[in-house]
Amino acid sequence: MGSRLTMTMTGIPVLYRKDGPIAWVTLNRPQALNAYNLAMRDELYGILQAVRDDLEVRGMVLCGAGERAFCAGADLTEFGSAPSQTIARQVRWERDVWGIFLSIEKPIIAAVHGYVLGSGVEMALLSDLRIASEDAVFGLPETGLGLVPAAGGTQTLPRVIGQGKALDLLLTGRRITAQEAFALGLVSRVVPRTRLFEEANLVMTNILSAGAQALGTAKRAVAQGAELPLAEALALERRLATSLLAAHKQAGFHRVFPPGYRADSLVH
Ligand code: COA
Repeated sequence: MGSRLTMTMTGIPVLYRKDGPIAWVTLNRPQALNAYNLAMRDELYGILQAVRDDLEVRGMVLCGAGERAFCAGADLTEFGSAPSQTIARQVRWERDVWGIFLSIEKPIIAAVHGYVLGSGVEMALLSDLRIASEDAVFGLPETGLGLVPAAGGTQTLPRVIGQGKALDLLLTGRRITAQEAFALGLVSRVVPRTRLFEEANLVMTNILSAGAQALGTAKRAVAQGAELPLAEALALERRLATSLLAAHKQAGFHRVFPPGYRADSLVH
C-alpha cells in the first residue's frame, strides 16, 4: 500500500490504477502539493468517466501523491490565465468534473493526508466517505483570496457538517486538524499516516461485499432524497427499495435470501 504514496510518475497529473474491482485515482503533482490545475482537470474528467463506465470497476479511492498533500487547492499560478471569461465558462461546462463525481453510482472514498485545502476539501466532499490520516490539515482559504469555493463547497460542506459549522470554516478560512475534522463530521475516520491506504482498501473491500445495485441504490436514495421534503423522500426510498427487490426477484431471489423469505415482507 505504501508504494502508492511514492508513485509519482512525472508529467501525468492524475494516475489511474485498477486493483481488482477498485480504481485507485491519484492526484499527481506532488511538486505543487497536488494543486488542481487545468491539466489535472482534463485528466480527471476522462478518468472519472472511465470509473463510471467501466463495468469491472466497482468502487474508487481518490488520494494524493507525495508526502505533503492530498491537494493544496486550485493552482494559484493559473488564476486569471484563461483567454476570456466566456471560454473559461464554456470549458468548465464541457468538462463538468464535479457533475461526473455526482453521476458515479459506485462508492467513492477520499483517502486524504497532509494539506487538504480549497478544491481538495471540495473533491473529498464529492466523495462518499472521507478517511483522513492524522497529519491532515483542512481549510477553505478562498474568501481570504477574494473568491468563494466554486467546486460545490458552499453547498456540499453545509450538507455534510451543517450550516453553522460550514460558515465557520468558509468565512474564517481557518485551518483545522484531522481530529477537529472528525469532531465536525467532515471525515468519518482518522488513521495513522502509514495505515491510510490500507484502511481505505479495507473499507472499500468491505463495502464491495455488498451488491453493486444495492450500493448504487443507497447512494441514489441519499443524494436524491436530500433535495426533497421528508414525505417525498420517504416515498422515493420506498420506490427504490421496491425496485431493488424486484430486480433481486428477477435475478433469482433465493440467491440473496434464505428459502421461504417473502420479498414483500422486506418493504414495510
Ligand atoms: N497553487 C500552485 N502552487 C502551489 C499551491 C497552489 N495552490 N500550493 C502550493 N504550491 C506550490 C508552491 O508554490 C511551491 O512550489 P515551489 O516549490 O515551486 O515554490 C510548492 O507547492 C510547495 O509549497 P510551499 O508553499 O513552498 O510549501 P509550504 O510548506 O511553505 O506551504 C501551503 C504549504 C499549503 C501552506 C502553501 O503552499 C499554500 O498556502 N498554498 C496555497 C493554498 C491555497 O491558497 N490554495 C488555493 C485555494 S483557492
